[in-house]
Amino acid sequence: MNILAINSSYRGDKGHTGFLIDKLFQGAKAAGAECQVVTLASLKINRCLACGKCRTAEHHLKCVHDTRDDIAAVFRQMSRADIIVYATPVYVFGLSGLLKTFLERFYGQGDSKDLRISRSGLMFYHVDHSICSKPFVTLVCCDNLENETPKNVLSYFQTFSKFMDAPQVGVLVRNGGRLSGHGLDPEREKRVPRILDVYAAYEQAGRELATIGHIRRSTERRANQEIVPVPLFGILKRLRPFKKTIIERTGDDMSPRQFGHKKLPCLSILTFV
Ligand SMILES: Cc1cc2nc3c(=O)[nH]c(=O)nc-3n(C[C@H](O)[C@H](O)[C@H](O)COP(=O)(O)O)c2cc1C
Repeated sequence: MNILAINSSYRGDKGHTGFLIDKLFQGAKAAGAECQVVTLASLKINRCLACGKCRTAEHHLKCVHDTRDDIAAVFRQMSRADIIVYATPVYVFGLSGLLKTFLERFYGQGDSKDLRISRSGLMFYHVDHSICSKPFVTLVCCDNLENETPKNVLSYFQTFSKFMDAPQVGVLVRNGGRLSGHGLDPEREKRVPRILDVYAAYEQAGRELATIGHIRRSTERRANQEIVPVPLFGILKRLRPFKKTIIERTGDDMSPRQFGHKKLPCLSILTFV
């Protein structure tokens, strides 16, 4: 199995997104997969100019940028992969700008004169399936704990899957990034064992991608679990009175050590940081 991750964090491979990809790939490599990461922040990816040249007979399906930036090399890597991992932090409630800029370059891979109906019954034009229709995993991370935060990214990739005929073979959503220390604070991880269980689930997800080509629902649930060690937090956090309690009992320090003293994380993790 050949798995390619597209890391779209502005922090490149030094950020939380890169850390989570590493965890996923530790499991995938151990199970025999060949894994590669494309770090968009370290490449030159020009934005689509909407010039329409790719729609003309002269430049049919060729982008004016193709020889001026790194996109062609990334598309070649994608066409060799069996599974793509689209990995993005939430940036102001949506995909990272780098990922959106990258995905907009798919425009040059579509033939608007050749209309088709996708497997989901949607009218769309022909796209290069070897690039756009690969089975893919959505990996999204954010700091906020509200379910609303990653919604736009998840919805985007559902729509992408339907139009592109690209099967979504896993969804990894990691909230509470700041609370967990973004993978950079081993002390914090020791104090909140759920964080370590999340990372173990990422490795398991990698093994499943390598061996069965998708992530099992049970593994997704483990990887996507709440890390705040308050019983029923997933349900409680939907309730306004509970949020008020959090706000009232909040401290300035959001160290998980506080949970041992029955204090709850501070407001800044419920709003975004
Ligand atoms: C420009 C910018 C916007 C952000 N917007 C949000 C947001 O809307 N919601 C949220 O929960 N976190 C937000 N964050 C935090 C990141 O999603 C979070 O820290 C993530 O783990 C960063 O991943 P990275 O280290 O790979 O870049 C934002 C960060 C930046 C730099």
